[in-house]
Amino acid sequence: MFLVILFGFSVMRVYGDEAAGVADLVLSCVLVEDGAAHGGTGGGGGGGGFSRTPATLVLKDVSVGPDQSLEMLTPFIPASEPDPELVLIEATVSKPDIPNSDVLLHADCNGQEVTCEMSRYSPNDALKNPDQAFFMVSLHIEGVDFSTSLILQTVKVEQPAQRHIQLGLPLSQSGTVQTEVIMVVHSDVRSVTAPLKGDVLVPCGFKQQDSPLAPDVHIEWRVQHRGKGRKVFEMKTPLEDAEGKAEILAERSDSSVSAEGVVSEGNASLSMSRLKVADEGTYICTVTIGQFHAQQVIQLNVIQLPEVSLSDYRLALKSDTTLSCHSSKFYPLDAQIEWYSRGPEDTERVVFSGKASLSGHRRHGDGTFSLSSHLTVPHTIAPGTEITCVVSHPALDTPHSETATVKSPEPDSYWWVLGFLIITVLFFLQVMK
Ligand SMILES: *[C@@H]1O[C@H](CO)[C@@H](O)[C@H](O)[C@H]1NC(C)=O
Repeated sequence: MFLVILFGFSVMRVYGDEAAGVADLVLSCVLVEDGAAHGGTGGGGGGGGFSRTPATLVLKDVSVGPDQSLEMLTPFIPASEPDPELVLIEATVSKPDIPNSDVLLHADCNGQEVTCEMSRYSPNDALKNPDQAFFMVSLHIEGVDFSTSLILQTVKVEQPAQRHIQLGLPLSQSGTVQTEVIMVVHSDVRSVTAPLKGDVLVPCGFKQQDSPLAPDVHIEWRVQHRGKGRKVFEMKTPLEDAEGKAEILAERSDSSVSAEGVVSEGNASLSMSRLKVADEGTYICTVTIGQFHAQQVIQLNVIQLPEVSLSDYRLALKSDTTLSCHSSKFYPLDAQIEWYSRGPEDTERVVFSGKASLSGHRRHGDGTFSLSSHLTVPHTIAPGTEITCVVSHPALDTPHSETATVKSPEPDSYWWVLGFLIITVLFFLQVMK
């Protein structure tokens, strides 16, 4: 019970060992289990669905950058009375380590919530040893570009004290299930945004333990959009002696993963060029080594800036006139068009208090959109007034504006009208004589 209170209090506590440059990281997790298969003591879950049990994950020996202050860190204290009902999983993370683990250390101080979800992981081969188990852990931090999936493997416990009631696994003296990280699949972003017709790199990487889990690695990239999925790219390559032996299948033209990057540094990032609107979606990078596989999910957004123009930049107001603002060939659709005016005497522009109507959007063959707004400008507006169309769009850091100016009335026509009036008056005076 003491542990629950201790861990429930904060997302994590970190214990630092400055000399070694490593720290222990305690994370509040949930263990998600198929309720039907493990319908034991786990709280929360119902019927045949999934049960969610609170769990604690202690990441041991997480490497800490030299510039990290460890003063604030408190040690992880195992309970003096091990509780075989608590799910307390200890995982050594030295080889492989977790890339960018610094952000995990920082998350607590910055008040960012760490999401940690664990589940039992069953590789294809049936497990022969009942004391051995695998876990899949996925870690995310709210609002931070960090995402990691870990595969944990239990390590042999010397003189197990007792067994875990729910998991059925041997527990260490301090009541923990002891594991080590054997494989990591990670991405340093949650989403990427790239321009239409441009290039993009969708990041994904992997690491595995020192003695390779299998001789080959298989990388698969898929994309899902509006419920439909398709394969983008696939590669299988030996991890040793790989030169020229990669089998590659690029379903999307102009897509690639560097075989050299995969083999030398576990870099499975997907490069794509000539982006189309149709490339947008949720990308899933699956790394398979032998019987183990883990994934990362990255959102790709395609954007295209609008081209903004006005139907007229110098308005001669003989009568009420329609001024149109065209916002062309942009993506995605969420563009906004607003009108402002600034009189010749005014210092600030104000929202134009007139009638504007939005055309229906047009969709082009390349998936981009066009939209126009038509403003009725009354002829009573003072010459010198500036009328500005402001277009906001997610692709624009600051809204784009285009300005038209109301011209003074043409002096020629003024004189012509005046002359005409004088002649008419003179003519009538003559007639009346
Ligand atoms: C991964 O490889 C791509 C090229 O395929 C490169 O642009 C990128 O910088 C690499 N990422 C890392 C983290 O090395």
